[in-house]
Amino acid sequence: MEKRTLTRATGNWVVGEQFWDREAELKLLIERLDEGAHLLLVAPRRMGKTSLMREAARRIENRYLCLHVDLQKAQSAADAIVELSVAAHRYKPLWERTKGVFQNVLRDTIESIEIDEIAVTLRSGLTAGDWQEKGDRLFEILATHKKPVVIFFDEVPILVNRLLKGTDYAITPERREAADAFLSWLRANSVHHQRSIRMVITGSIGLEPVVHQAGLSATLNTLTPFPLASWSRETATGCLNALAAGYGLTLQPDAVREMLDRLGLFIPHHVQMFFDNVLQAARLRGITDISRQLAAEVYEHSMLGLRGHAELSHLEERLRMVLGPELDLLALDLLTEAAVAGSLTDEAAAVLARRHFSDEAPFAIGFAPATQATEPPGRRFCDEWKAPLRHVLAILEHDGYLEKRDGAYVFSSRLVRDWWKARFNFAYAPVSRQGV
Ligand SMILES: Nc1ncnc2c1ncn2[C@@H]1O[C@H](COP(=O)(O)OP(=O)(O)OP(=O)(O)O)[C@@H](O)[C@H]1O
Ligand SMILES: [Mg+2]
Repeated sequence: MEKRTLTRATGNWVVGEQFWDREAELKLLIERLDEGAHLLLVAPRRMGKTSLMREAARRIENRYLCLHVDLQKAQSAADAIVELSVAAHRYKPLWERTKGVFQNVLRDTIESIEIDEIAVTLRSGLTAGDWQEKGDRLFEILATHKKPVVIFFDEVPILVNRLLKGTDYAITPERREAADAFLSWLRANSVHHQRSIRMVITGSIGLEPVVHQAGLSATLNTLTPFPLASWSRETATGCLNALAAGYGLTLQPDAVREMLDRLGLFIPHHVQMFFDNVLQAARLRGITDISRQLAAEVYEHSMLGLRGHAELSHLEERLRMVLGPELDLLALDLLTEAAVAGSLTDEAAAVLARRHFSDEAPFAIGFAPATQATEPPGRRFCDEWKAPLRHVLAILEHDGYLEKRDGAYVFSSRLVRDWWKARFNFAYAPVSRQGV
């Protein structure tokens, strides 16, 4: 392989010169789009989902019109329509026609106002009753564009999760209906405009577990799952060496080995973050040759230090967002058990779940009772912890925290396990050591 240099990136998505490898995934993704598929890009946090979409878009821009729609801030389906319209704003002919959909609120002054103001103005032109009709008209406009269109929807699960659970995490019939209306509308348009519009959907939390919880899985059946795995050891090694070359550093082969062994799982963001910390240490010490010893020190002091904490807080936030405060507490215990005891057995998970759900709490968060109300109270409540436990474990697996090895759950990433342990080890007595 040719010797390449790479510029570091430690936060936002990357493209072009900063984008490493993923050639096979890009080829496959583009092939699928060429075949007219709608894709659900599935991967745990920080795996490079947004980057993959951006890089794919960059490579197909001559053949497709690519729109990027980020729903992170959207609170409602109407907000999603606004984001889609704003994405069309960059393309003049499209925008000219989009304006027609919003003629109730757009005046001639529109050319001179800022993009943020456009969003606010468009939002004022949508009501709870007409977002679907206006959204359909937008899709009609996109479908007649001279090139086929790919809409890259990011953070769809965050919006769906919000629609479904509100701020109090209760799935009410109205909220379920709102989530269903949005997903069904998206699905209907994906079918209706199959030949002219493709969609790629992703987000930093898993969509399937959220949708499954509400019994809405059928709304995703036009999407082809597209999993994005972590880097191979070889790819991660290449990336580290290319970064080192970009900054005049030499990583000793055993330093690279040490870095990769410590990470355990080669999530691109974690590889980049480790390099960035090594670079900082090297610069502060005025050295360019990186030994195994230095890599180990950087791991202990920097990766597990303050910056690691910030990353972990971000992971925790997303987990709470999907699970809500009740189930989040159970997830914290399950993860702490796995981190401190080294693995989470089914027995230990059951003990923790029983402790959490010794009363009727799971009903409030949208789980159907496991047994009928007519059954005797003792029997009625004895199994109620099972459904929420299954749900939490499914999310922890789907979102890449835990995986099952030899019959017990373990952390997929050693770094995340070490973060978790450093943070929650304090005063936690593992269930598995209490003789369950
Ligand atoms: N192909 C790549 N080459 C180099 N670095 C990458 C690549 N993909 C991801 N990264 C690193 O990971 C970071 C996060 O990338 P990105 O935002 O695309 O991930 P994501 O999966 O969308 O994350 P989130 O789950 O937070 O939405 C980037 O800032 C970069 O450091
Ligand atoms: Mg992302």
